Amino acid sequence: MSKLFEPIKIGNIELKNRIIYAPMTRSRANDEGVQPDFVATYYVQRASAGLLITEATNVSPMAKGYVRTPGIYTQEQIESWKKVTEAVHNAGGKIFMQIFHTGRIALPDFLPNNVQPVAPSAVKANGQNYTDDGMKDFVEPRELTIEEVKQTVKDFGNAAKNAIEAGFDGVELHGANGYLVHQFLGSNTNLRTDEYGGSFENRARFLFEVLNAMIAEIGSERVSVRLSPAGQFNNMEETDAEELYKFILPELSKLNLAYFHLGTFDFSKDWHAILRPYYKGNFFAGVGFTKERAEKLLAEGGADAIVFGTSFLANPDLPARFANNWELNVPDQSTFYTPGEKGYTDYPTYSQA
Ligand SMILES: Cc1cc2nc3c(=O)[nH]c(=O)nc-3n(C[C@H](O)[C@H](O)[C@H](O)COP(=O)(O)O)c2cc1C
Repeated sequence: MSKLFEPIKIGNIELKNRIIYAPMTRSRANDEGVQPDFVATYYVQRASAGLLITEATNVSPMAKGYVRTPGIYTQEQIESWKKVTEAVHNAGGKIFMQIFHTGRIALPDFLPNNVQPVAPSAVKANGQNYTDDGMKDFVEPRELTIEEVKQTVKDFGNAAKNAIEAGFDGVELHGANGYLVHQFLGSNTNLRTDEYGGSFENRARFLFEVLNAMIAEIGSERVSVRLSPAGQFNNMEETDAEELYKFILPELSKLNLAYFHLGTFDFSKDWHAILRPYYKGNFFAGVGFTKERAEKLLAEGGADAIVFGTSFLANPDLPARFANNWELNVPDQSTFYTPGEKGYTDYPTYSQA
């Protein structure tokens, strides 16, 4: 039998298979970052995954970089997520929350009193971000003070604590795709000359302080992290990515996390093959996987579980479709981030179709 369907233990929980639902922003929350009830339906439809990872969720009001994204820093937000975790658990699923801070990718439109976004350094991202008034250029962020860096670390610890209160099985730190944690790692986004910039150790300091704050609140067995070496999404640059991540992964191994999630949009190198030997613990590989590629990598020992994004988004019964070699629905990009249930809870299972 395919290794995709073998159970795997992460931390203190067992996953029924190695088919993982990728974190995907879907922008269905209200302006207060509270999830509507139909979000529970969406995740339950996909609860045959070994593990669901939620959309990236804001750790504080300053973290918000996209319309209608959920938060995990108010009681009302926590209550709305409780309905999701309860429903997923009742359906026999397991679910981690992904938490993030968008840093320089935020627009003043999304921030309290329309203030300037914050980042490791005052370096504007090239490009534009989507708002309900159309596309808008990114703006120059303000450099975080040391005190603000420390407060932001605490915000991540608090968000992890809140996620557990909301019933999640664990919390994945979003350290990928050009958001705040990644902005500290990046060679073009971190120009700091204090203890948070310069050497690999200094550029990775924020990442490890955040992970340790999360671990202090909820225990390492419930913490994980996603990284995206050399990923250029959101105008990132890591000129020294291979050396940087070969430094980070052994340090990460010492933390005994639930798992490490490697998912990058950089295809110039085989990052899974390069970095797998540097990490001791559960290794989740993502981005661009088909069933065939996934089975091959698992069989070779190149990963312990595989993370599926758009294919799982469009096929709520993806594990059953893989098991039976059924054909797949095609994802509809036009409804990835639109409000309401269209393109969200209405993808049919194979038997419904
Ligand atoms: C609509 C959409 C939203 C996404 N949002 C997130 C996110 O919130 N956090 C994250 O880490 N990755 C996010 N991603 C990236 C996915 O997790 C995944 O890496 C990507 O879809 C590539 O995997 P795939 O080839 O299996 O689709 C998003 C992708 C899509 C399509």
